[in-house]
Amino acid sequence: MSEVFSKVNKSRRNLVIAVAAVPGAITGAAVVAPFVATLAPSERAKAAGAPVTVDVANIKPGEKLTVEWRGKVVWVMRRTPEQVAAMAAIPASQLTDAESKKSDQPGYVNAKTRSISPELMVMEGVCTHLGCSPTSKLTPGELGNDWPGGFYCPCHGSKFDVAGRVFTGSPAPKNLVVPPHMFAGTSLTIGVGQDGKEA
Ligand code: FES
Repeated sequence: MSEVFSKVNKSRRNLVIAVAAVPGAITGAAVVAPFVATLAPSERAKAAGAPVTVDVANIKPGEKLTVEWRGKVVWVMRRTPEQVAAMAAIPASQLTDAESKKSDQPGYVNAKTRSISPELMVMEGVCTHLGCSPTSKLTPGELGNDWPGGFYCPCHGSKFDVAGRVFTGSPAPKNLVVPPHMFAGTSLTIGVGQDGKEA
């Protein structure tokens, strides 16, 4: 599937970033970096901490948008019904922190889907082991017959489901981080809580 482009409002400027079609992930930092590099240092510092607003209306089921927030890669993905079902079917015994009790996410996201709604995922694309960027391995069977689809960290082999929950046997100790975020219709703002205040 080809890449399509979407506009993201970030503070007082616009960034053009890519929607990566599943399963071909893109490296968000590599896409965003050239635009960031054009900012003056003070503007860059200001923008680095600012909330990021994205319109999710055009993200189709199975597509993943990569944005940058506070210098980190954040994925916004619309899960397919099949991915939601596959995620729900994973036995808790296969997951290091199935209920996300030791992991980092806002209290208003579901502990299992790790999202506000089952289909829309907002997650930092940063491995909780040593910070590498996991790659999308969203096709069931892609990493073996029992692979339900998810993310794979190429550095030391950590595996995560489509909720960012880490599988047992992975060196990553926690699930992928869910950043604070808020939806208003199809508008998603990353970096604010449910009250709209910066978090
Ligand atoms: S940094 Fe991801 S497994 Fe080590």
